[in-house]
Amino acid sequence: MTKKAVLLTGGAGFIGSHTAVALVNAGYEPVILDNFSNSQPAVLNRLEQIVGRALVCERGDVGDSAWVQSVISKHGICAVVHFAGCKAVGESMADPLKYYVNNVAGTISLLKAMQAAGCRLLVFSSSATVYGDPATSPITEDFPIQSANTYGATKVMCEQMLAEMSSSDNRWRAGVLRYFNPVGAHPSGLIGDDPSGVPNNLMPYVTQVAAGQRPMLDIFGDDYETEDGTGVRDYIHVQDLALGHVAAVRTLLEGASSFTVNLGAGHGHSVLEVVRAFEAASGQQIPYQIAPRRPGDVAAYYADPSAAARLLGWHAKHDLNDMCTDAWRWQQYASQNSSKT
Ligand code: NAD
Ligand code: UD1
Repeated sequence: MTKKAVLLTGGAGFIGSHTAVALVNAGYEPVILDNFSNSQPAVLNRLEQIVGRALVCERGDVGDSAWVQSVISKHGICAVVHFAGCKAVGESMADPLKYYVNNVAGTISLLKAMQAAGCRLLVFSSSATVYGDPATSPITEDFPIQSANTYGATKVMCEQMLAEMSSSDNRWRAGVLRYFNPVGAHPSGLIGDDPSGVPNNLMPYVTQVAAGQRPMLDIFGDDYETEDGTGVRDYIHVQDLALGHVAAVRTLLEGASSFTVNLGAGHGHSVLEVVRAFEAASGQQIPYQIAPRRPGDVAAYYADPSAAARLLGWHAKHDLNDMCTDAWRWQQYASQNSSKT
């Protein structure tokens, strides 16, 4: 029997590359589509090393609807996972048009291509950012949706488009996955988070300090109303996240109607807990200083992941120690291969 082909837009990126491996392990044929605006073509060689065989990759832009349609038809794609997009909150406020073009217009272009090719099953990368500053935690999917920044606004708009399309035509079925804080890396150490420039997020900053690439970590505030005063987040291992995508694809292919679920561990860790866990996992000291709060940050939030357990049979299995161990293994590989190629 031929394997079911699943298109991964942005499949060469952090979450897409881990999902490609998980799909292969689950018996699917991932087709990676990427313009390499935020990843390296060489990730393909490393993916092939991990899975032990050749993978299909189509280089191009998701905004080129006619070309995407031809890719869907050529490979007999049965479902699409849409990762491609920009994800830096600060940049989205400085250059909103870039975010509306790539994230919103890019999604419209993909939906047109899927419609024309007759493929209407989509898994969409959304984010806990759609909850803005939630009043309490754990967060369930029915919490109010609010966008505190342009990046968040693009995710809210895409979610709304998908909801309207599913209700207008039941051939359209979408699985919206709201990720909490993805960290960690594949245990091989060959793929991981590869931010360009100064990392915005905590874990890649910590790993670069450990590797001696940055002198110290700034902890953004120690006067929040949390146990140790530092911000609390729901960190989720990218390997668990990848399996969440496999479960979402499988569930849609089995005939489920559209769904929206949180993908998180269901509990939070503070910045200081992450630093201590990383030090224990890596044996490296992380020098840090307390810096002012980062504008737009909230004190604490974490997911209620029970809908994902109920609908997808999915839950996170890896703990903070696994996340730190795997992130450190990847950082060491990346440092030794400085172009990460
Ligand atoms: P990433 O930047 O590592 O991967 C995105 C990939 O998409 C890159 O390989 C990039 O080259 C590609 N890409 C971007 N625009 C494209 C276009 N127009 N055409 C073709 N390819 C394009 O990001 P990631 O961390 O893997 O995130 C994937 C998705 O998950 C994004 O939509 C992001 O908003 C969402 N998300 C990420 C996080 C996170 O913390 N990483 C959290 C919540 C949601
Ligand atoms: C950020 C984005 C969010 C996005 C998510 C992706 C903002 C305001 N929010 O969330 O939209 O979906 O990334 O994972 O940018 N921290 C430090 N020092 C650092 C970096 C971070 O102390 O150098 C702290 C932060 O204050 C926060 C925690 O570490 O308490 C996690 O930060 P980060 O990894 O940036 O994720 P979020 O802020 O949750």
